[in-house]
Amino acid sequence: MSFTIAIDGPAAAGKGTISKAVAAHFNVPHLDTGLLYRAVGLKMLGGVDPIDAARALRPEDLEVEGLRTAEVAQAASKVAVIPEVRAALLDFQRVFARRAGGAVLDGRDIGTVICPEAEAKLFVTASAEVRAQRRFKELTEQGAATEFDTVLADVRARDERDMNRADAPLKPADDAVLVDTSTMTIDEAVAAAIQAVDAKR
Ligand code: C5P
Repeated sequence: MSFTIAIDGPAAAGKGTISKAVAAHFNVPHLDTGLLYRAVGLKMLGGVDPIDAARALRPEDLEVEGLRTAEVAQAASKVAVIPEVRAALLDFQRVFARRAGGAVLDGRDIGTVICPEAEAKLFVTASAEVRAQRRFKELTEQGAATEFDTVLADVRARDERDMNRADAPLKPADDAVLVDTSTMTIDEAVAAAIQAVDAKR
């Protein structure tokens, strides 16, 4: 039986950590769909037409170095507004979602567009300041030289683009369970997510 768990939300809300933990808990594979857009964004930065890049994308492209940088994140959110790019990435995500045994997908439009029929839907969010603070800490720990204000501006720019695009904008599905992680620890957020999924099983 397939059981799809859709986890959406804005940048740096804790989606990635929560999705990995939920996938491990239920012992199902996990797809970070942001990587698809990042891989296309990286190719665009290298001069490739984003629509061509999306149509030619291979699973190996999700494994390359350099997908997690701030520059690639901004490029990803730019290619993500192009309907042909989104359309080209649809099948891969839907096939993954419908794997026998279940799957976790995280992104921006999983519960609304990719898998509107997902059995469990979560919308993981937190205030822009909290998200920027977490991202800033992460980047500083990795040794990146950056300012909090720059990170906050980046988070806000990406939110703007993700929420206001015409095609598949970032928003909670009507039947999504909201998990606001602003004042939660990672463990609390993971526990809340697992509980929400369990309630649908
Ligand atoms: O989640 P992540 O930060 O890696 O996503 C990078 C960008 O890819 C997002 O800002 C968003 O514009 C885009 N994206 C999307 N739909 C998804 C996943 C990511 O539009 N399902």
